[in-house]
Amino acid sequence: MSGIERTLLMVKPDAAARNLTGEILRRVEEAGFRLLAIRMVRLRKEEAESFYAVHREREFFAPLVEYVVSGSVVPMVLEKENAVRALRDLIGPTKPADAKKGSIRGDFGLDVQRNAVHASDSPETAAREIAFFFSERERV
Ligand code: RTP
Ligand code: MG
Repeated sequence: MSGIERTLLMVKPDAAARNLTGEILRRVEEAGFRLLAIRMVRLRKEEAESFYAVHREREFFAPLVEYVVSGSVVPMVLEKENAVRALRDLIGPTKPADAKKGSIRGDFGLDVQRNAVHASDSPETAAREIAFFFSERERV
């Protein structure tokens, strides 16, 4: 089944700090996603822990939280047919070394942690993550 969906893309601190936000947004728009909302924010530790709560028990949780609060992030809401799947395809797998050239992580990711971007992994996660970053007024 297909349909118009919304998803959340977050430019992570490594990519935001390397001035890659514009290039990443350009690729996303070129791929047919419509930008509905965008902001720049430096997360507090408790916010980062809440955003990544699903990974609380993983061994990489503490370093992940530390990394994501190390600089500003740029979350954005994107809309497209099958947006969740389509965006995961555009960014590539978690490890940049496994990602194809031409994918966002393949071209810009540095390592498994500093992998340039986050994208929602299901429509349910997308709804939660969009509400995490954006007020109802911003969610046009
Ligand atoms: P994301 O949530 O950021 O879009 O990434 P993902 O779905 O591809 O990967 P996920 O399993 O959800 O992991 C979330 C983030 O945690 C960091 N990570 N580090 N050191 C490690 O082995 C490790 N594994 C994951 C990455 O920043 C990953 O994107
Ligand atoms: Mg994930």
